[in-house]
Amino acid sequence: MIEVEEKAAQGQAGHVSKYTRNNPFLSTVRVNELQTAEGSEKETRHIELTLDDGMTYTPGDAVGIDPENRAAAVAQVMAALGFKGDERVLDHYKVEISLEEALRTRLSIGKLARGSLKQYAKLAPGLEGLHAMVNPENKARAEEYCWGREFIDLVTDYPGVVSEPQQLFHVLQRLVPRMYSIASSQKIHRDNVQTTVRVIRYESHGRSRQGVASGQLGERAPVGTKLPIFLHANGNFRLPEDTSAPVIMIGPGTGVAPFRAFLEERQATGQTGNNWLFFGDQREKLDFLYRDQFQAMQKDGVLTRLDTAFSRDQPQKVYVQDRMQEHAADLFEWLERGAYFYVCGDVTRMAKDVETALLDVIAKGSDGTLDAAAEYLAAMKKQKRYQRDVY
Ligand SMILES: Cc1cc2nc3c(=O)[nH]c(=O)nc-3n(C[C@H](O)[C@H](O)[C@H](O)COP(=O)(O)OP(=O)(O)OC[C@H]3O[C@@H](n4cnc5c(N)ncnc54)[C@H](O)[C@@H]3O)c2cc1C
Ligand SMILES: NC(=O)c1ccc[n+]([C@@H]2O[C@H](COP(=O)([O-])OP(=O)(O)OC[C@H]3O[C@@H](n4cnc5c(N)ncnc54)[C@H](OP(=O)(O)O)[C@@H]3O)[C@@H](O)[C@H]2O)c1
Repeated sequence: MIEVEEKAAQGQAGHVSKYTRNNPFLSTVRVNELQTAEGSEKETRHIELTLDDGMTYTPGDAVGIDPENRAAAVAQVMAALGFKGDERVLDHYKVEISLEEALRTRLSIGKLARGSLKQYAKLAPGLEGLHAMVNPENKARAEEYCWGREFIDLVTDYPGVVSEPQQLFHVLQRLVPRMYSIASSQKIHRDNVQTTVRVIRYESHGRSRQGVASGQLGERAPVGTKLPIFLHANGNFRLPEDTSAPVIMIGPGTGVAPFRAFLEERQATGQTGNNWLFFGDQREKLDFLYRDQFQAMQKDGVLTRLDTAFSRDQPQKVYVQDRMQEHAADLFEWLERGAYFYVCGDVTRMAKDVETALLDVIAKGSDGTLDAAAEYLAAMKKQKRYQRDVY
C-alpha cells in the first residue's frame, strides 16, 4: 500500500514547476554521506540534490529519482542474450536508441515481475516448464520463481528465447522512478532537497544483488553526479496548520526522514507547538540517524521529547511501539491536548503494530474499550490528526 497523493509537482504557495515526472530536472548530487557507522548491517545515506530556480517543496513531500541500471548488469543481460548493445530499437515513445541505452535507462532488468515471465513464455511456446509456471492457476509458483530473481536469471534458466532486441520492450516493464521522502525544509535549504536512502543489497540464488536506485545512490553517485529528479507533492502528510499544535512523530529507520523536515521547518519558522519524536533502528552506536542534529534540537527545545528504541542493543527486541506503551499516559495526554500523530516507514509490519499500540494507549488512557479507542482514532483521522506515509 502506498499512501501518496498523485499530483503535479505543486509546492509551496501553489507554485507549479516546469519540471515534472515526464520532464525531470537534471540535478547534481551535492552531498552523499554515509549515516550509518562502520559495522552496521545497514547502509543508510544522506543525499543532497540541487534544485533549479522555481522548484519548491513542502515537508511531507517526496523527491522522485529516475535511476539507471548498473552497466555490469546491462552487460550481463546483453551477453546472455547474444546481443552486442549497438543494435537499434524504438523506445516507448518510438524514439530510436541503442539496445544498451534501452537496457540501462528504459527497461526494468532488476526484480523480475510476473508479467515479464508471462510475456517471455509467449515467445517460447515449446518451453513447458515455463508455461506451467505462468498458468493463472499456478500464481504462487510464478511468485516463488520471481522472488529474489532478476531478468538475468530468467534468461539463464530459459536461454535462446529472445531473437530480436525489440522483443524486450514486450517482455520487460518500464524502468520507473523511485520516490524518497524529503528530509529537509526549504526554509533552511533554499536551493536543494535532501533525502535519507537505505541501500538495498542482498544475495539470492547465488548472485549478489542491489536495488536499482538505492544501489546507484550507494555506489555510483558521488558528489557532482547528475541525476534526473522531480518533486512530488503529498498533501496527505502535512504539519498542522495550527503552529501551536503538538506533534507526535513515529519514524523508525528511514521513516525518520520527513520528521527531520518537519522539525527543521518548525525550527526555521519559530512554531511554538511541542514536538515528540520516536526513532528506532538496530543499534544506537551504529544506526542512530541524524543523532547530532536531533540532540542539538533537543537542547534548543525544538524537539520537546526524543524516545529511541534500538532493537538489537539487548537480548529482547525493543521497538518504537514498546516506547509508546511505556509512555502511554503522557502520550494520551498529548493526544487530549490535540496532538497530531504521524507515522512513516515500513508498511508491512511496523505501521500496523504502531496502530495497534496507539489503540491500546487510547483505550488505557480513556479507560475505554478497544471499540471506543477505534472511534477516537476515527475522529482523529477525520480531523487529519492521524497521518501516515508508509511504503
Ligand atoms: C512515498 C515513498 C517514500 C519513500 N521514501 C523512502 C525513503 O525515504 N528512503 C528509502 O530508502 N526508501 C524510500 N522509499 C522506497 C524507495 O522508493 C525504493 O523503493 C527503494 O529505495 C528501493 O528501490 P531500489 O530501486 O533501490 O530497489 P529495487 O530495484 O526496486 O528493488 C527492491 C526490491 O528488491 C527486492 N528485495 C529487497 N531485499 C530483498 C531480499 N533480501 N531478498 C529478495 N528480494 C529482495 C524486493 O522485492 C524489493 O521490492 C519510499 C517509497 C515511497 C513509495
Ligand atoms: N520498498 C523497498 O524496497 C524499500 C527500500 C528501503 C527501505 N524500505 C523500507 O523502509 C522502511 C525503513 O527501512 P530501514 O531499513 O531504514 O528500517 P526498518 O527495517 O524499518 O528498521 C528500523 C527499526 O525498526 C525495527 N522494526 C522491525 N520490525 C518492526 C515492527 N514490527 N515494528 C516496529 N519496529 C520494527 C527494526 O528492528 P529489527 O530489524 O531489529 O527487527 C529496526 O530497529 C522499511 O519498510 C523498509 O522495508 C523499503
